[in-house]
Amino acid sequence: MRPIASLAALAALVTAVPAAAQTAQPVRATSPDGSIAVELTIDGDGRAAYAVSRKGKPVIAPSKLGFLFTDMAKIDRRLTVTGQEVSDFDQTWQQPWGEWSSIRNHYREFKVHLKETTALARVFTVTFRIYNDGVGFRYEFPAQPNMAKTNIAEELTEFTFAQDGTAWWKPAFLWNREEYLYNKTALSALSTAATPVTMKLADGTHVTLHEAALVDYSGMAVTRTDGTTLRANLTPGSGGPKVQKTGAWTTPWRTLIIADDAPGIYMSHLMLNLNEPNKLGDMSWFKPGKFAGVWWNMIKGEWSWARGPKHGATNANVKRYIDFAAANGIPNVLVEGWNVGWDGDWFGNGWDMDFTKPTEDFDIAMLSAYAKKKGVRLVGHHETGGAVTHYENQLDRSFAFAAKHGMMVVKTGYVTDAAQLERVDADGTKYREWLDGQWMSNHFVRVAESAYKHRIAFDSHEPIKGTGLHRTYPNWVAREGMRGMEYNAWGGKNPPEHEANIVFTRMLEGPMDFTPGVLSLEGEKGSAILSTKAKQLALYVVIYSPVQMAADTPENYAKHMDAFKFIRDVPADWDETRVLGGEVGDYVTIVRKERGGPDWYLGAVGDEEARHIAFALDFLAPGKRYVAEIYRDAPDADYRTDKRFGIVIEQRPVTSKDTMDLHLAPGGGAAVRFRLVK
Ligand code: NOJ
Ligand code: CA
Repeated sequence: MRPIASLAALAALVTAVPAAAQTAQPVRATSPDGSIAVELTIDGDGRAAYAVSRKGKPVIAPSKLGFLFTDMAKIDRRLTVTGQEVSDFDQTWQQPWGEWSSIRNHYREFKVHLKETTALARVFTVTFRIYNDGVGFRYEFPAQPNMAKTNIAEELTEFTFAQDGTAWWKPAFLWNREEYLYNKTALSALSTAATPVTMKLADGTHVTLHEAALVDYSGMAVTRTDGTTLRANLTPGSGGPKVQKTGAWTTPWRTLIIADDAPGIYMSHLMLNLNEPNKLGDMSWFKPGKFAGVWWNMIKGEWSWARGPKHGATNANVKRYIDFAAANGIPNVLVEGWNVGWDGDWFGNGWDMDFTKPTEDFDIAMLSAYAKKKGVRLVGHHETGGAVTHYENQLDRSFAFAAKHGMMVVKTGYVTDAAQLERVDADGTKYREWLDGQWMSNHFVRVAESAYKHRIAFDSHEPIKGTGLHRTYPNWVAREGMRGMEYNAWGGKNPPEHEANIVFTRMLEGPMDFTPGVLSLEGEKGSAILSTKAKQLALYVVIYSPVQMAADTPENYAKHMDAFKFIRDVPADWDETRVLGGEVGDYVTIVRKERGGPDWYLGAVGDEEARHIAFALDFLAPGKRYVAEIYRDAPDADYRTDKRFGIVIEQRPVTSKDTMDLHLAPGGGAAVRFRLVK
């Protein structure tokens, strides 16, 4: 900011602006219900800025728009508005699987056409979609002579919050990708953050800043430039420009979900609605469900992915897991370390991985037939070790191989550091790409399309950020993209507030393969997980995924069969979801109605503090009787001691007129099935 010494100096500054370039009338539009307003202004230098208000109070103060390029003049000054269009849209669509079976997409579209007054005369449109619970906007550039090829150095989009507040955010551009804990700081103390960033502004308004439909563009992090101003900071490419485009192009949607409280943020459908409808086609072959896995013992270091005396993926082990799944109504069994390629140093070095070559002690024909006989499917695993082109070269035959062996889901993985993904072009040139870069955004679409040809759904670990693309590519059923349960196996475990943080941040990206349900509450070398037993059950409702893992081993579950009943019962597909209460990082209570059935399930998780939660059961169908099957923390349960195993399992008749009151222990949670009495 230029310091202005006196009123006289200010007057001189104003009169210095040529008459032709003076501020034009702002253009403005509101959400369908009128609560959210968006305004676009042009200042005396011809700079465009947008602002957002809600219920008459500013949320985003005037914030700049524009671009830097690597090979031509930037776009930010000398712009004029050449036209505007406003139109309404209201349609309800069905999700093939999800947290809600039908979703209303109701917005007012506000297009502002802009043109440079310079010789380059470049033109573009900023399109806003204004919802009752937030705003998405994107830049749209038509093909034009002065932009035949576009090499973007940086996007100048800013987000100046009208008030300070508290922000929950994780750092961007660090080696461990998305797997960092959330920081809780003043918004005015944020540095460089990956999105989503969730904020509670000083007046209590909650806002989540993120992006939707990230395809053929690089992911947007944000850097605080001053005060409460955040600016887009695009993920680098492997060369000079961060994004390269030919002809017409658009950015992803820059999104602001705005609500009175944390539950309101979660209940928004803006992310999905800003993505294109299903481009793949029929999804009826995909059945949401749980999976067991030859996995936790590897994560704990007791078994190995590589061949040798500790190899996990042996015929005997896999058969035992299939038997366990079949006995407990779990339809899928993941097996990791089943293929050739794990024996060397595979981390960041997946060149030996072959997803059509099982190891000698894993008889895939025998095991898939054995599974089929028992009504179970194997879940494939493609750990690329970051060798992405090597993976693309075998993509089609790998999914064909999985389909041939009866698989419906493949878990994929990209274990390498953030900017170390290996790309090799047709001419042999090698590059190292960022996970959230433009090239990787296109890679994940290639995976979705290839998998779909073979009717395979995939669950990507170490993935690109989630931007609601599971609407467009509904076989991309889950992602990791945050510290999941595996961190509880190792030193530096997830803290008790972790899940209450991620529900209001990471979960806005879409389903997460968190891998819940470690009822043994133990990681490597007997180390204690910072959770009660009841909380492990609550995670099945709180952390949504249509492929939900029963992550512990059959041997461990055998010791906790009473609590395990909830894992057997809980579905992974829902007609409806409601957040009954919550505060970011403190607690959350979620209820969901099973898809196509009458029962409701509740999950509540807290943080390190004990607390009571109370809520009405008015979500239940009126006039019906239910039995509440309650799994709650024992009165003395506590994540810091062996009392973390303390759980009370009880039943109680309830109706929609009742209320319920539950105690959450330190590090605790609660799970309830509301079973309709027929
Ligand atoms: C990291 C994944 O998150 C984990 O689930 C997997 O077992 C390992 N990579 C090996 O692929
Ligand atoms: Ca991981």
